[in-house]
Amino acid sequence: MRLFIDTANIEEIREVNNWGVISGVTTNPSLVAREGRDFATVVREICDLVEGPVSAEVLSLHTDEMVREGKQLAALHPQVVVKIPVCEAGLAAIRQLSRQGVSTNATLVFSAAQALLAARAGASYVSPFVGRVDDTGNDGLQVLSEIVTVFDHYLIDTEIIAASIRHPVHVVEAAKMGAHIATVPYSVLKQMVRHPLTEVGITRFLDDWKAAQR
Ligand code: G3P
Repeated sequence: MRLFIDTANIEEIREVNNWGVISGVTTNPSLVAREGRDFATVVREICDLVEGPVSAEVLSLHTDEMVREGKQLAALHPQVVVKIPVCEAGLAAIRQLSRQGVSTNATLVFSAAQALLAARAGASYVSPFVGRVDDTGNDGLQVLSEIVTVFDHYLIDTEIIAASIRHPVHVVEAAKMGAHIATVPYSVLKQMVRHPLTEVGITRFLDDWKAAQR
């Protein structure tokens, strides 16, 4: 499974990109707004920093506007993937953009039914929101698993991005079930790196080494 980082913060992207573990970036309007910077500038900077797809989301709610906005975003950089919410207008926009060769990421996916519709409309990626399903008292990983099963069954080539990841177990479970990608917040990537036994082990090795020098 490939890993994307789910952030619009350049410093977070720069640090994690230096680890060599990320293959792309996803943003959403909330993440971009948090940075308080010009949207197009942020998207271009991210594309210049990272190799791989960079999702940037449309804000419009009508098909024609989504398509127009999507084309503007796609024109910012060849790595841009246009993120579009799954709804009637969004499906029609995904269809039009995919027919014009624009990569799309169907977002705010909360069911296998929505994922199937988005894939059939021509989405390059679908983003089921695992954590937000969990927040409703339902099982986000179960929804993800259903999408993996359906796509495998029909050899659908739309890639599945496990999104709204809240902790490392979400990432590992998504990998075990065969999701293509997990888009992971910076804080969770940090949690994935660390293990108390690794820290204890490093300290012990250094202590033993120093003791032997004395
Ligand atoms: O970027 C989409 C998704 O990952 C957002 O996650 O934590 O706001 O539910 P979250």
